[in-house]
Amino acid sequence: MNSFDAALIGAGGFARNHMSILERLQDEQALRTVAVADPNIAAIAPSANWKYQPGLRLYESLQKLLAEEECDLISIATPPFLHFDMVEAVLRHPRAFVYLEKPPVPLYTQLEGLLKNPASERVAVGFQFLESHLIQDVKRRLLAGEIGEIRAIRASAATPRADSYYQRSGWAGRLALGANAVFDGPASNGLAHLVHLIMFFGGADETAFALPDTITGRFLRARPIEAYDFAYLEGRLQQGPAFELAVCHCSEEHHPWIVRIEGTKGEIVFDQRSLESFNPAELLYQSYRGLLRVMTRESPRPRTRLQDCAGYLQAVCGAFAVSQGVTTMDARDIREAGEGTGRIYSVEKAARLVRAIAEGRESRAERWFEVPPSVNAASAARQENLLSQAGFIAPVR
Ligand SMILES: NC(=O)c1ccc[n+]([C@@H]2O[C@H](COP(=O)([O-])OP(=O)(O)OC[C@H]3O[C@@H](n4cnc5c(N)ncnc54)[C@H](O)[C@@H]3O)[C@@H](O)[C@H]2O)c1
Repeated sequence: MNSFDAALIGAGGFARNHMSILERLQDEQALRTVAVADPNIAAIAPSANWKYQPGLRLYESLQKLLAEEECDLISIATPPFLHFDMVEAVLRHPRAFVYLEKPPVPLYTQLEGLLKNPASERVAVGFQFLESHLIQDVKRRLLAGEIGEIRAIRASAATPRADSYYQRSGWAGRLALGANAVFDGPASNGLAHLVHLIMFFGGADETAFALPDTITGRFLRARPIEAYDFAYLEGRLQQGPAFELAVCHCSEEHHPWIVRIEGTKGEIVFDQRSLESFNPAELLYQSYRGLLRVMTRESPRPRTRLQDCAGYLQAVCGAFAVSQGVTTMDARDIREAGEGTGRIYSVEKAARLVRAIAEGRESRAERWFEVPPSVNAASAARQENLLSQAGFIAPVR
């Protein structure tokens, strides 16, 4: 039936996965992709092998696309520092729904800005892991009281990232680009899913997300970048449970992400590999299907609406404010491994802390850094000029 016209903003990088899903949905006659916008479209399109390419109209910018097209669905799969302006522009369109890649925006204050617009309810945020049956089942078990009252939610992961990752795009490893907040790094980009999952598991009902009450944290860098490649967050949710997160890219060891939920009567632990459908493409597909059900009014809401990201953004932005930006790690703790663009900056202490949380051990003994006193998460997250305030961007080695 192809009843909906869709457009994709961003054509390279992760946006390629979006095009594959859009093609699948077009095969299923759920929609028809009519346009793609990307400043590099002239270079990308000829070799892209898009299944429905002959019918696609190509643009160099979102603005040009919006001036010409009347789409029902616009997917934004561009770098996060562009999301705020792009969502604002698309919401001026009278009816288009938005599939917005995670993280929705880099800053909590930007989220608050977008939420002032009632049309923001047309936005679904692509935290696609929530589509996993296992994750939904864990939430139901928690709500059914299987482990009693939740005492703590802990998560950790070490996903090594080499020079090639940081060289792929100008925004990689940056806190800001000119006036734009970027806030790249494992907690606020690559492994943002984990922070969002903590908020989901802490949420009071099947669809709700928790908000942090208090927060503290540290953001450290091993690699000589402006941003960070290790983050530690610790806080308490408004409903009471404690939460803790350690994530890093500065590790030679790969530790798939793990979540431990401790209750008064037991605990639930699962890792990334145990997701029955750990097939990223399938989860992305399900995430699109969820938004399409909203568009056809079969469902009242997508899994993650913009406002559902408040907990995630309060946690990462609040922790960044408390951390007073990024601190460079002691050079004696950093080892360079690998060659050429495969080089990794590896910090054994970071991997040990990730392991301690994964194994359910007390993490305090593995914390080689001080953590500032906790503060109110929402107020800390609203700190003006979060990423650029004098002193926040420490000199790069
Ligand atoms: N959901 C997931 O599991 C997952 C995985 C990886 C990346 N992502 C997200 O996908 C998004 C894109 O990340 P990426 O690493 O692919 O970025 P990227 O830097 O590779 O850019 C993706 C594409 O956007 C294009 N682009 C840049 N500026 C543009 C503009 N002004 N208008 C239109 N297109 C523009 C680039 O040319 C590129 O083709 C990010 O939000 C990232 O966090 C999500």
